Amino acid sequence: MGFKIAVAGATGNVGREMLNILEERGFPADEIVPLASRRSVGTEVSYGDKTLKVKALESYDFSDTDICLMSAGGSISKEYSPKIGKQGCVVIDNSSAWRYDQDVPLIVPEVNPDAIDGFTKKNIIANPNCSTAQLVVALKPLHEAATIKRVVVSTYQSVSGAGKEGMDELFEQTRAVFVADPISANKFTKRIAFNCIPHIDVFMEDGFTKEEWKMVAETKKMLDPKIKLTATCVRVPVFIGHAEAVNLEFEKPITADEAREILREAPGCQVIDKREDGGYVTPYESAGEDATYISRLREDPTVDNGLALWVVADNLRKGAALNTVQIAELLVARGLIQPKKEAA
Ligand SMILES: NC(=O)c1ccc[n+]([C@@H]2O[C@H](COP(=O)([O-])OP(=O)(O)OC[C@H]3O[C@@H](n4cnc5c(N)ncnc54)[C@H](OP(=O)(O)O)[C@@H]3O)[C@@H](O)[C@H]2O)c1
Repeated sequence: MGFKIAVAGATGNVGREMLNILEERGFPADEIVPLASRRSVGTEVSYGDKTLKVKALESYDFSDTDICLMSAGGSISKEYSPKIGKQGCVVIDNSSAWRYDQDVPLIVPEVNPDAIDGFTKKNIIANPNCSTAQLVVALKPLHEAATIKRVVVSTYQSVSGAGKEGMDELFEQTRAVFVADPISANKFTKRIAFNCIPHIDVFMEDGFTKEEWKMVAETKKMLDPKIKLTATCVRVPVFIGHAEAVNLEFEKPITADEAREILREAPGCQVIDKREDGGYVTPYESAGEDATYISRLREDPTVDNGLALWVVADNLRKGAALNTVQIAELLVARGLIQPKKEAA
């Protein structure tokens, strides 16, 4: 007997990818129910070679559903996740609504799988921000080897990180440039076509943006509260795939060669690092892939025990949908959840 899984936000960028990944990885599901807003009721979405019809989240009864993969935004999650959890359905949420709640585990399975045990307090598990997910996959094995003291990261984040409206805006503006139409910016604060914007999410009092703050708070929660991290998050005109230029300062010495060998063996990581033309991975090449790619590894001579590297991943997969499905797999593998139908 398999599980009954609801995918809330199934018409969105992340939700569609969740359906693909559940099918690709052969998740033990007997039934998949796609959910979205009332606007989308009856819309068809694909699950492998099947077509499923979307139902409304607001009127769906979760009492016989085992897991809800939620990617419908923060305010929807704040409203619905506690109610769904109380119905005995485990929510794995992609928004930032629950990530900093002490009673909600924030999980990247390659990094802190044991933290999942606390999920029963609210029946909610949080998935990190896309830029943090790929970063901690690369940092964890290096932290274990030489203890990271400080991280300086600059991100190059694709427009799909801002949902399907973000992708539409890049497409429309690019088309408008070529046909000399007027350009309007609605989703982003400035024109994104042929440009980059050093502003993701809202500004905080200290001048950092919320996206930058999330990278600090989430890295500390998942990896080590002692790590100091400072980030600059930038939106770039790329459809899918986030890149990060990362500078690390360690307590203990570590060479670029040692780091490369450690990362080659690390779960979720793939090292593509030839010091020649094209010997690195770009965001475009990461789209549709599961790995977190590490390139441009080198020693940073400006600090003691310093390394610099380039980290790239598909933000819709490792940054969101893949990580969510991996969390569901972890629940199943550890026997932390049983199908309700079997129990009945
Ligand atoms: N994109 C990324 O890289 C990424 C990474 C990590 C986390 N996330 C998070 O994942 C979530 C979804 O992101 P996305 O990129 O998939 O956004 P998106 O493409 O804009 O999709 C949003 C989804 O939410 C649904 N929704 C909106 N209002 C709803 C309501 N009132 N009731 C039920 N469903 C509703 C939409 O359904 P309709 O089509 O019916 O409107 C749609 O399915 C966000 O919280 C985002 O922060 C995204």
